[in-house]
Amino acid sequence: MSAPSKPTPQVKPGILDIHAYVPGKSKATNPNVVPVKMSSNENALGCSPAALAAFEAAGSRLNRYPDSTNADLRAAIAGHFRLEPERLVFGCGSDEIFALLNQVYLQPGDNIVMGQYGFAAYAIGAKACGGEVRYADEPELTTHVDNLLALVDERTRLVFFANPSNPTGTVLSEAEVRRLHEGLPGNVILVIDGAYCEFSSAPGFSDGLDLARAADNIVVTRTFSKLHGLAALRVGWAYAPEPVVAALDRIRLPFNVVLPGQDAAIAALADQDFQDRSLALVAQWRPWLTQQLGGLGLEVTPSHANFVLARFPAAPDKHNALAAEAWLADRGWIVRGVKNYGLPDHVRITIGLEEHNRAVVEALQAFMAS
Ligand SMILES: Cc1ncc(COP(=O)(O)O)c(C=O)c1O
Repeated sequence: MSAPSKPTPQVKPGILDIHAYVPGKSKATNPNVVPVKMSSNENALGCSPAALAAFEAAGSRLNRYPDSTNADLRAAIAGHFRLEPERLVFGCGSDEIFALLNQVYLQPGDNIVMGQYGFAAYAIGAKACGGEVRYADEPELTTHVDNLLALVDERTRLVFFANPSNPTGTVLSEAEVRRLHEGLPGNVILVIDGAYCEFSSAPGFSDGLDLARAADNIVVTRTFSKLHGLAALRVGWAYAPEPVVAALDRIRLPFNVVLPGQDAAIAALADQDFQDRSLALVAQWRPWLTQQLGGLGLEVTPSHANFVLARFPAAPDKHNALAAEAWLADRGWIVRGVKNYGLPDHVRITIGLEEHNRAVVEALQAFMAS
């Protein structure tokens, strides 16, 4: 008789079906080149010098826990955006806020609704809670209000979308967002992810904060990772109805925003010059990249964010997206193939400094001619 097998720890159902988040690559394939990362929609200008100084000054207080209430950062954001301070909640990046929303509102068998190319973090958090993820078709690579609404049922708890969206860069107008909100039952939370909202000047676009002010079921999330160039410090926040804030605050880790992050974010928010320079860089080079890549015969989705999405000929054509990504990586230009978003023929390129943008276009010219 064989000995009874020892019990082993069992992962709860659903966890191993989750595809872990795949971050943008940061290493080149060729060890002889210094890579330039244009794969994670980071700020090519770095961060505000004032934010860097605040971060460095925080070095003398590393023995101290951060303020768990984020009082100073809360006051700074409330003042800057004219929001009620008690309606703000903070996260270790906006990523944590998506996870917290799922944890608070989803029971096994409930569902979230998002676009088919929507940001992967929404789905990971939902699946970790035993939730179902419903993907609405996005014709023209754009969030589609009617398709989202058609998937909502009595088990839907959250509808997530980013405006502008990642990886497509497309936007929904304020009128469309309003229509989406009006089409939802009052117990379904609409999450408007504004990670890239500052980069959009599309006609009729709004960051959703005004819409959220008067609503009981809208959460707007924002981040210091993109415009402010503080991705390493992981500072995100949300403007939400008070009952939502109260629920999230109960389960978030007490010190989820680090002390240097809080200080740097306050300084970054006050540095209008750095924000203006960051916006100007994107405003100058996004249309240029769009036009140049279009000139190479690639289809470029009109972007309202700090990146562009280009479509390459489908494999087996040798000028396909995977080959383009490898060609660029070999020369030190790290861009993002988005096969895992269901877009195997597309490559996403973060807007870089002038020399980066020009060099990537030159390298792609050579690739398309190869
Ligand atoms: C659409 C979208 N939302 C949220 C985030 C995450 O931002 P954070 O760094 O605040 O977690 C990203 C990051 O790439 C993003 O693309």
